[in-house]
Amino acid sequence: MKKTFLLAGLLILSFALPAQTPTYLDDTKPIEERIEDALSRMTMDEKVAMCHAQSKFGSAGVPRLGIPENWMTDGPHGIRPEVLWDEWNQAGWTNDSCIAFPALTCLAATWNREMSALYGKSIGEEARYRNKNVLLGPGVNIYRTPLNGRNFEYMGEDPHLAAELVVPYIRGVQSNGVAACVKHFALNNQEVDRHTVDVNLSDRALYEIYLPAFKAAVRQGNAWAIMGAYNLYRGQHACHNRRLLNDILRDEWQFDGVVVSDWGGVYDTRQAAYNGLDMEFGTGTNGLTENSANAYDAYFLAKPYLDKLQSGEIATATLDAKVRNILRLTFRTTMNKNRPFGSFGTSEHAQAGRTIAQEGIVLLQNDNNTLPIDPNKTKKIAVIGENAIRMMTVGGGSSSLKAKYEISPLKGLQDRLGAQVEVRYARGYTGEISDGYNGVSTKQHIRDRRSADELTAEAIKVAREADFVIFFGGLNKEKHQDCEGDDRKQLGLPYNQDSLITALAKVNKNIAVVIISGNAVSMPWRKEVPAILQGWYLGTEAGNALAAVLTGDINPSGKLPFTFGEKLTDYGAHATGSYPGQGEVTYKEDIFVGYRWFEKHKIKPLFAFGHGLSYTTFSYGKAVVSAKTMTRDDTITVHIPVRNTGNRVGKEVVQLYIGDIKSSVPRPEKELKGFEKIELQAGEEKLIGFTIDKEDLSFFDEEKHAYIAESGKFKIFIGSSSSDIRSTVDIELK
Ligand code: BGC
Repeated sequence: MKKTFLLAGLLILSFALPAQTPTYLDDTKPIEERIEDALSRMTMDEKVAMCHAQSKFGSAGVPRLGIPENWMTDGPHGIRPEVLWDEWNQAGWTNDSCIAFPALTCLAATWNREMSALYGKSIGEEARYRNKNVLLGPGVNIYRTPLNGRNFEYMGEDPHLAAELVVPYIRGVQSNGVAACVKHFALNNQEVDRHTVDVNLSDRALYEIYLPAFKAAVRQGNAWAIMGAYNLYRGQHACHNRRLLNDILRDEWQFDGVVVSDWGGVYDTRQAAYNGLDMEFGTGTNGLTENSANAYDAYFLAKPYLDKLQSGEIATATLDAKVRNILRLTFRTTMNKNRPFGSFGTSEHAQAGRTIAQEGIVLLQNDNNTLPIDPNKTKKIAVIGENAIRMMTVGGGSSSLKAKYEISPLKGLQDRLGAQVEVRYARGYTGEISDGYNGVSTKQHIRDRRSADELTAEAIKVAREADFVIFFGGLNKEKHQDCEGDDRKQLGLPYNQDSLITALAKVNKNIAVVIISGNAVSMPWRKEVPAILQGWYLGTEAGNALAAVLTGDINPSGKLPFTFGEKLTDYGAHATGSYPGQGEVTYKEDIFVGYRWFEKHKIKPLFAFGHGLSYTTFSYGKAVVSAKTMTRDDTITVHIPVRNTGNRVGKEVVQLYIGDIKSSVPRPEKELKGFEKIELQAGEEKLIGFTIDKEDLSFFDEEKHAYIAESGKFKIFIGSSSSDIRSTVDIELK
């Protein structure tokens, strides 16, 4: 009796004495200490297991130590549905239908940092709820050619615009304890030959055009993850490229997050070990099915790596460096006890998507104030075109989604206009139709077997009988359109839309053309139609957002994030014959990408970078500088009054560009260095201010490997687009 009592007492005593919490589990300790502690407890096998996938989107934690697995998800526009363990096909879960947000070109077209923050926060909440700790996005590859099939996933042609907008997105995502994985680092500017193309370019083009958005993501956005690109740079694949990852990302920018490979972007164990990669995904070992045991072991950073580590052929320091980065990711995400829980598929998120969409839609042309449609004066509207009914969230590659719902433009208009207006629909043309993507069905049965002539005849009849015609065309998410894995074949619209639009405009002058695309298209019919709207891919609330702008509930305020050319050879990459290359591609247009090229060669664009109209008008006063001269340690402020001269509230993006009047190296006529989106009531005026420092005047000096601001005169341009400058003022750097 006594003995038992004593034993129980001892037991109680030993339970009462708390075992000391290991440092790695103690979130009051600094992350770096936790990392070292966890690392010291891990075996080499456990470390190697963390460096490569164990399923299509997942990688190992340390089960023995309670360190969670990492779960990634595409993508930039919404949370990808769950896929089977080792396949691209969806797993058929019933709880993973997401809110589809507008594609990133639309976000870029908002020119609004607040929209980017809202986007990041909302999509981050969705990822968090789905228990993903890495979101594979956003993408900031620069728009070099309008043929790139993935441009719709990126933020346009200008490094400053992309840099400014990527930062709030990342912060928003990461406020949920979910890492943003910024992609594709770097120089993934075409889909043709994307796994084999070797990119060559000057350091100036690299540092001035292609890197700034990534740098901002790292330095200002504090991104916790970066994805390598498929292509090569200077003969080495980007996912284990010494210069890109070791020299630039790690050494110059001091990146402390994880580098994740693109899916199937790794080719070599030694390079992967030494050149900055941390986690390998999607390698073509045919996953679980090839080897009888576990084909993930065949990844370059799996058994082949372990073998070389054990034999001493590869230094163990390479492994510890990777695992430190991966553990840092873990402590920032899954092992951060304070992170929120997220939310998924909510009406708030749908509304956020709609708000962003409405701010990104661009009114390209509006002769005679054709838009907005006045529902009280319009009795019969003809809606023509496949894109009025076609689902756009399914397809296009890895950004394909299983959306909770998607409002088509036709539905959006019908709901907005109600019974008071008769809406008649005619297809007009047909494109390729896929019923689904990776097992996600569009649930649409829109194949139309009628001939092109029959479809045209019907559309013309419907258009002729209407008071107003809205044509919804553009591209779609099929191969050779806006779709990953390949590029477009032409700048022109597919499926004979050009001749259809011309025919429609002949029978009804009250016509608005809405282009649904993530890329510029040529418009030989531009002068035949009064109104043109750039409608992007807008996600779940697409139709409602478009209807709101078309009917004037929302005053459009989007501005183009890239230049619309008349023809392909208007673009530098094509004019110089340096696309798509043969095995190798040299960016011969150099720093003259987008409007920089158009301005240098005095090419009149179809629609300029930064262009976008409103249903109201804005007048600009004179730009005034705080001083005419500055030194390298000073800043100068520029102020300009902007007034809403119309009779309704509207938003304007005030854009500031700078040109170097005389320079020792070729420089663009002007470059975007600042922008502010402001809202003005009818008649209201605001004074908009910008601060300029020496960085805004600099170029990248290849010999000094530094940004240099040369003394001399600079011109400041302020305007409503790159081609609509309202005031200029000269300053001098002493
Ligand atoms: C794409 C990435 C994507 C990954 C995973 C790749 O093919 O290039 O952007 O995140 O697949 O789906």
